[in-house]
Order: sequence, then structure tokens, then C-alpha cells
Amino acid sequence: MKIFNPRTLLRESLSDLQSYSSAREEFAMESGMSFLDANENPFESGLNRYPDPQQQKLKNKLAELKQIAPSKIILGNGSDELLDLVIRCFCEPGKDSVITLPPTYGMYGILSRINGVRVREVPLDPNFQPDLQAVTQAVDDRTKLLFLCSPNNPSGNRLNTESITALLDNFPGIVVLDEAYADFSSVSMLKMLDNYPNLVILQTFSKAYGLAGARLGAGYASREIIHLLSKIKLPYNVNLLTQQVALERLEDTTGIEREIKEILDQRALLKARLELLPFVQKVFPSEANFLLVRVDDAQRRYNQFLEAGIVVRNRSKELHCEQSLRITVGTPQENDRLLEVAKSF
Ligand SMILES: Cc1ncc(COP(=O)(O)O)c(C=O)c1O
Repeated sequence: MKIFNPRTLLRESLSDLQSYSSAREEFAMESGMSFLDANENPFESGLNRYPDPQQQKLKNKLAELKQIAPSKIILGNGSDELLDLVIRCFCEPGKDSVITLPPTYGMYGILSRINGVRVREVPLDPNFQPDLQAVTQAVDDRTKLLFLCSPNNPSGNRLNTESITALLDNFPGIVVLDEAYADFSSVSMLKMLDNYPNLVILQTFSKAYGLAGARLGAGYASREIIHLLSKIKLPYNVNLLTQQVALERLEDTTGIEREIKEILDQRALLKARLELLPFVQKVFPSEANFLLVRVDDAQRRYNQFLEAGIVVRNRSKELHCEQSLRITVGTPQENDRLLEVAKSF
């Protein structure tokens, strides 16, 4: 196994940081004691107490489902918060750089720039796979993070496992593997976590779990990385309602599986039917809950969908995505309507 100590990458100002110790960290609310320690309103409303800062119940449940120790899990206000945390933890503003592989999820670059961190873009090849040599060439001694997205947004494909492992073996910093859409694919690298001490895997409750409005993301990594990230997170970053609703949702495994299966069936149907349309040039293979569709004139088709009351995403400005629309798989009724409208163009 690779020898890797995340402390060597830590931002200098964090090396001796004493993190905030919140009142709710010290005693569990179930202990039956009188809590006069956090300046809360004592009158019961269901929300008058601060939430568990470590989200222990939720982590325990996820640990059971994912077969991973709770100490290797961090939860955040969406995976966007976790992306921001990783950057703030390991990148020195004005000095360090990160690598992104466009076309990909825009927040990797945006959050890095907000944090004063340089972004080196190494394009995916036309099949939307990483160019391993080019990534290696882009690394210097201030490159801290590499962002991989698999399945990738906006292309929908999975990155080859061999490429991911080659990057994990050779990249000197932390590899952040965003698996936001992995529930729609048959592959996740989560089982490999123990083999790669430089790997952070992010998953989200916003896609397959249907909780985009609740804002919850999960990060999985070594205990050492999770410890460092937990030190700098805001004390109460996941609110009580979100913790409750996520716990309930995780109990409903059959419901989640049913919805995923329905989305996968609909994705196949939608792809097959879109391919029959004369203005569609290519439907890219997808392992996510959306399809990237190359058409004859993306702006024109986008406008036509819009006039019919259907909002899709024009991704034509992204690398290798010329004249392409990104279409989320909707309910069977929404997909039928989309096809009906598209046939009338
Ligand atoms: C690849 C990818 N990662 C992360 C996110 C954001 O996830 P969250 O809602 O958990 O912040 C998205 C949202 O579209 C995404 O496409």
C-alpha cells in the first residue's frame, strides 16, 4: 500500500488549530440531564436544541449500509460543502494548485478559485477518459488535489477503473473522487478505500436518494483525513431536520432501489427513443441519471423545448460537448412528454 501522510499536505495555519468544542459534543441529548450549557431556548419545539455536531446516528446507519467504519465518514451540507472543506484543509491560498479534468462538474474549479487556489485544467480525451500522461505533466510540488468525477457530469460516462487506480498510485496529493452518480452505475470505488490512503470519495443524497432539498453529502476517506476535515468543519453543518429525514430515507432501502431501477429503465428507453429522432446525432452512453445528447442545433432545440415548457441544459460550450444538451431522466410521464414534443420539432 502507498505510504501517505495527509498531514504533510495540510495548510500551514491549520497545523496547530484547536477546533471549536461545541456544547452538544460533550453529552448526548438522550442522557436525561438538564441541558443548560448551550444558551438554547428551553421550551420544546422539536428544533430548540442544536443538532448532533458529529451526526453519529446517521453515520452509524451509513456505516452499516456501506460496510465502512463511522470514523471514516464525514457529512456535509451537500457534497459541495465537502469539496470546499477539502480545498480549505489542504490548499494554501495564493500558493497551491489543483487539477480538474474538463468537461466536468464546475464547482471543483469555482470553489478552488474562491479559495485563491490555482486551477490546472487537463482535458479529458474525446471519449471523456483521463489523459494520464498529461495529468502527470501538470503536477508540480504545489499541486495538492486532483478532482475526478465518475460517472462524470456532464458526459455521463464512468472513468476507467484502471485509469483511476493509476492516478491514485501516481498522483502525489489527494485524489477526490466524486461519485455523485455512482448509485446509477454498477461500480463504486468505496470498497477500495482501504487500499488508497490518498483517496477521498464523495457521494450525495441529492441524486438517487432524492434529497437535493435537504442538502446532505457524504465523504469517505482514511481516519486521518476525516479527522483533519472534521477539525475545520462548522460545528453544526448538518441541521437536525436533514439528519432526521436522511435517517428515515435510509430505512427505506426498497423504495430507493425501486426508484433507481425505474430511472435506469427510463434512461434506456429514453436513449433508444431519442436515437430515432432525425435531429439527434448521438446519445452518449450514460451511467448517470441524465443523458448527453448531441443534436443538429443545440440552441434551437433548447429553445423549442423551453417553448413547450421543458427545461433542459445546453452544455455546448463545454469541451467535447459541441451542440449537446444534457437531459435529466424524469418520471415516465415527463419522459413521454419530452419525446412527444421532440417528435413534433
Ligand atoms: C458531480 C456532482 N457532484 C456534486 C454535485 C452537488 O452535490 P450536492 O447536492 O450534494 O452538493 C453535483 C450536482 O449536480 C454533481 O453533478
